[in-house]
Amino acid sequence: MSTPSFSLVNNANGEKIDLPAVGGTLGPVGLDVGKVYDKAGVFTYDPGFSSTCSTKSAITYIDGDAGVLLYRGYPVAQLAEHCSFIEVAYLILNGELPNAAELEAFDQSIRKHTMINESLKGFFSGFRYDAHPMAMLTGVVGSLSAFYHDTTNNKDPRHREIFAHRMIAKIPTIAAAAYKRHVGQPFMYPQNHLDYCSNLLHMMFAVPAEPYHVNPVAAKALDILFILHADHEQNASTSTVRMAGSTGTNPYAAIAAGIAALWGPSHGGANEAVLNMLDEIGDVKHVQGFMDKVKDKQSGVRLMGFGHRVYKNFDPRATIIREQCHKVLKALNVNDPQLELAMKLEEIALNDDYFKARKLYPNVDFYSGIIYKALGIPVNMFTPMFAIARTVGWVAHWAEMISDPAMRIARPRQVYTGAPERSVSPLAQR
Ligand code: CMC
Repeated sequence: MSTPSFSLVNNANGEKIDLPAVGGTLGPVGLDVGKVYDKAGVFTYDPGFSSTCSTKSAITYIDGDAGVLLYRGYPVAQLAEHCSFIEVAYLILNGELPNAAELEAFDQSIRKHTMINESLKGFFSGFRYDAHPMAMLTGVVGSLSAFYHDTTNNKDPRHREIFAHRMIAKIPTIAAAAYKRHVGQPFMYPQNHLDYCSNLLHMMFAVPAEPYHVNPVAAKALDILFILHADHEQNASTSTVRMAGSTGTNPYAAIAAGIAALWGPSHGGANEAVLNMLDEIGDVKHVQGFMDKVKDKQSGVRLMGFGHRVYKNFDPRATIIREQCHKVLKALNVNDPQLELAMKLEEIALNDDYFKARKLYPNVDFYSGIIYKALGIPVNMFTPMFAIARTVGWVAHWAEMISDPAMRIARPRQVYTGAPERSVSPLAQR
């Protein structure tokens, strides 16, 4: 197929401005509008970036109309079936699946970096007892920059690798510490003989006074959820990490910015919002009334866990999570009425013209909270779970950007709508 060509015509003088097509391996081409201002004195305008590519990237591909999600070319469902989260993390960071020796070396390196500096532990006691774990996560991850502060090393591949391994290894320790602070229990040190997810469950739920055995069903379920959350190309939090990182800031500070962006209910905070919504609905008999409210634009109520900027079809992650949800609840012998409620909501929404016309389908967050709840994870820890998994994507995108010789500071423009230039009158005359 020939490369499509596009141009803009300046109607004032008939001048044609070519917009070179930027092609990738899959998906639509991008139009390079970088010279439009220089040549025509106008900006392009796309609030919310519905049609705007901020970068080229070789990490993740999404076809939202077909419901396709690939990490480095591999369908996410295949990765969830055949690989561990650590294998997928290696893939996302390095571009290829590891062989046995590469996986062993990577896994050992991650295990070696799980501890946090003792003085960092002290930061947690500075938070109020009721601080949200995402607030603590944002603050403490940002504080890692005070421990690892030589940003001139960003250009050194080995230093980027150490940063990646440290960040992936320490984020579960920090999230578990935030939880322990929240429930008023002593911190539990990482146990490096445990795999990634078992270690996290141990740090969250063990107490020094008693032995704790990680349930392998819970660890496996978490591992699959983490694979599904590991990356999602230029979403709001990843774009935030890239934007912060493009200034050359400390990479730990850039990750903290990503965590802050993830927290919002339109993004990673949706998993917590779904459970709160199910609580509020309470019973299947209230579902129809709730759906009427959702469709009434004046109410401002949204069906949380539904809709996506990119997927206009089933979110492939939601399909896998829905299936996992049934499996995990059965394996753990949990009978959760909220699952029935969620299924009823889904059934009504999928058959309702409002949702059909807007192509609104369940997203990754619709069922994940029900699994987290069955694993004993409290609702305010749902978004930190998402953050742990997405750290892999954030780190990979930061590294991809920093190692690109064409990297420039991200600096969008605006259409100014304020007052035209005017003169200041002295205070007495105002
Ligand atoms: N419930 C009811 N109506 C909705 C919903 C919803 N969940 N989502 C979108 N709409 C309607 C919206 O009101 C609009 O209607 P109209 O055309 O009549 O004005 C139309 O659908 C398009 O919505 P939009 O807000 O322009 O779409 P967007 O691409 O800007 O927003 C979204 C995407 C995910 C923020 C939105 O669908 C939403 O708020 N969903 C609920 C929150 C949620 O589940 N977020 C998790 C996203 S997946 C995980 C992640 O990425 O972190």
